[in-house]
Amino acid sequence: MKKKILITGGTGYIGSHTAVELIEKGYEILIIDNLSNSEEFIIDSIESITGTRPKFANIDLLDVEKLNIFFANNDNIEGVIHFAAAKAVGESVQKPLYYYKNNLGGTLNLLEAMKQYHIENFVFSSSCTVYGQPDKLPVTEKAPVKEAESPYGYTKQVCENILKDVIKSGAELKGIALRYFNPIGAHASGLIGELPVGVPANLLPYITQTAYGIREQLSVFGNDYNTPDGSCIRDYIHVVDLAKAHIIAIERLIHKKNKTPYEMFNLGTGNGFSVFEIIKSFEKVSGLQLNYKVEPRRAGDIEQIWADTTLANNELGWKAEKNIDEMTLSAWVWEQNYRKQ
Ligand code: WQD
Repeated sequence: MKKKILITGGTGYIGSHTAVELIEKGYEILIIDNLSNSEEFIIDSIESITGTRPKFANIDLLDVEKLNIFFANNDNIEGVIHFAAAKAVGESVQKPLYYYKNNLGGTLNLLEAMKQYHIENFVFSSSCTVYGQPDKLPVTEKAPVKEAESPYGYTKQVCENILKDVIKSGAELKGIALRYFNPIGAHASGLIGELPVGVPANLLPYITQTAYGIREQLSVFGNDYNTPDGSCIRDYIHVVDLAKAHIIAIERLIHKKNKTPYEMFNLGTGNGFSVFEIIKSFEKVSGLQLNYKVEPRRAGDIEQIWADTTLANNELGWKAEKNIDEMTLSAWVWEQNYRKQ
């Protein structure tokens, strides 16, 4: 009998890549998603890649009634990996109420339902945004959580504390928060990848859409930072490396290998790359000259961050494997495949 894992937000970017890895590892996957920032064809793509179609339910986590019916009709779920959330930093500044209601309300409803149906393993999709601009680099899990720069980042901090407090209250719950750095790239098949709705906020999809001719020109938000080439530095990590870490995390909980009921891990490569270095990598792998212009800094951007990955390497036995050129090339292959559909 295959173990069942529920993925919320499973038609999304990281969720769909995690679904593929879990299916290929022999799990039965259930996906709930409200398709607010993804498309249902991703379910077909997951089936094309793995030969197995995950069970999909179009449910909004704010719809408590539908959520409970789902859990009542799907028993023996071993664990939940919770991706479903709104995640655009800039948008969150414009729509704080939506972000707090959606990201916090959704997590609270999910945890309530898990309690009612005695599901005790929970992996939470968190973000390095919780660190703000770290005082020391590389940043470890012990670094202080700083005041969030955006409502989006704040919802990640609050959800981590909700998880910690529910676990501390003695509930039958074990949790792992995974703090992602900058996920980029796409599955080698070119059938799933980052699918931003509207104008992309993130760097890589903006680059690939500019190269494809959908966007006129990439704006580089600032070249006057205190970094070697003046542009911001981030720890970009291939989405497939990130997905693989989720398998290890949920299995750690299922097999009760976790050292404490609540754990958290940085998921990065440990290397920082600047915006100009990403552009250079993209031009190398695509053979194209990217049209870009330096513009003023973007509000809310931190200058530089990259992960200390020691804890995840040692405790999870996980290490990111793909290099920056594999990341940018896979993003470009996905963009071309997606537009040809
Ligand atoms: C990266 C760098 C920009 C776009 C955010 C969230 C984080 C996670 C990933 C969800 C920055 C520069 C970008 C552009 C640019 N999201 N840039 N031109 O802001 O590091 O992280 O997305 O989990 O939580 O905070 O990622 O890709 O937006 O920006 O110059 O058109 O690229 O200034 O230096 P960010 P990003």
